[in-house]
Amino acid sequence: MKILFLDQSGKPGGAELCLIDIAKPYRDSCLVGLFADGTFRDLLEQQQIPVQVLTTQSLAIRKESSLVQGLGSIGQLIPLIARVVKTASKYDLIYANTQKALVVGALASFFSRRPLVYHLHDILSTEHFSSTNLRLAVTLANRFASLVIANSQAAKAAFVAAGGKPEIIEVVYNGFASEKYLAEESSLNHLRQNLGLDGQFVVGHFSRLSPWKGQHILLEALAHCPDDVTAILVGDALFGEQDYVEHLHKQVAKLGLEQRVRFLGFRSDIVSLMTACDLIAHTSTAPEPFGRVIVEAMLCGKPVVAAEAGGAIELVETGKTGWLVTPGNPQQLAEVITTCRQQPEYVATIAKESQRQASQRFNLTNINQQINQLLGNLYSALPCNELQQADKSPPF
Ligand code: UDP
Ligand code: GLC
Repeated sequence: MKILFLDQSGKPGGAELCLIDIAKPYRDSCLVGLFADGTFRDLLEQQQIPVQVLTTQSLAIRKESSLVQGLGSIGQLIPLIARVVKTASKYDLIYANTQKALVVGALASFFSRRPLVYHLHDILSTEHFSSTNLRLAVTLANRFASLVIANSQAAKAAFVAAGGKPEIIEVVYNGFASEKYLAEESSLNHLRQNLGLDGQFVVGHFSRLSPWKGQHILLEALAHCPDDVTAILVGDALFGEQDYVEHLHKQVAKLGLEQRVRFLGFRSDIVSLMTACDLIAHTSTAPEPFGRVIVEAMLCGKPVVAAEAGGAIELVETGKTGWLVTPGNPQQLAEVITTCRQQPEYVATIAKESQRQASQRFNLTNINQQINQLLGNLYSALPCNELQQADKSPPF
């Protein structure tokens, strides 16, 4: 099965990191087409996954764009769609991994007569998207996608609530190779020393810096915690949220937390950093579609406290595999942090159980098999003459 994967981003967000794991088993016969260049391309190349940047212009459809702005960007889309249609004629199916990829993939699927799969990594609600983009995504998926893969039950429920066809959507969680999450204990003391974290109770936050990821909630909570509680914020503003970064630095100064907060920027040594923490906090203020960082923390054997909404509810069970707290409630978060600091043995038991469960539930080989089976069903249901007819040249 030859797959043309499409993703709008040149930067490695969670949807892109997930795509690396999905595309890898198909790397002998697939192509990942990107709509922007960046370090995501390097990561794909490191895994020997064929990749091409399909446009030199970055597209103007934004989450918050209005109908008029949305239509305005069609002029930019045409050359890209033409290129994707041409490329798609060499592949058996199109796999759109992001919303802009869905827009382009839907039209390319129509013209190239290739089936379309849409991997839905988002919660399609107005907390995350303009109503125009919501309608567009659901309409295109309903009309053109043979299969929608949702990254959680929460993402599926939002899709259906927004008018998406329930019969085309299946839930497949992100998969993880658990052996990659075991850090060398010996390197950790060194890392903690280098970061000046010795003797501290370290709470880690691993997310791009963006208002809905709620780093400000952790800072606020920290002000209510004992003085030896320190936070590391790992991640950068990937999608231009510079105002928020400034806001966070000002908040640190205002709360007098300069000695208790470190901004580490985007890092690729997530496993070592997570393992060097005592607790990992997830603080999204809008429902998290899945939340890779939550599973990664579990696989590192670290206790995790997460915001009780969206996919996070499917990942964490309070008191069994971690703790869930009300989104946007710093006091409640501070209470959990303080309890974890006081009860290390109880917390370690929970972290161990959550590591055991996570390595089973999110096993990469099983998840890849689920995806392969779904794609295989779709492929084998295609009338063979349809693929032959589809080999005719595209209309460009
Ligand atoms: N991540 C990373 N370096 C950083 C911060 C985050 O590699 O400095 C990774 C993190 O380990 C996770 C992904 O980025 O795999 C974020 O995915 P998640 O699903 O948690 O959130 P998203 O940003 O996709 O909404
Ligand atoms: C998106 C979502 C995130 C999810 C990731 C992988 O980036 O925001 O919650 O974990 O996709 O599916």
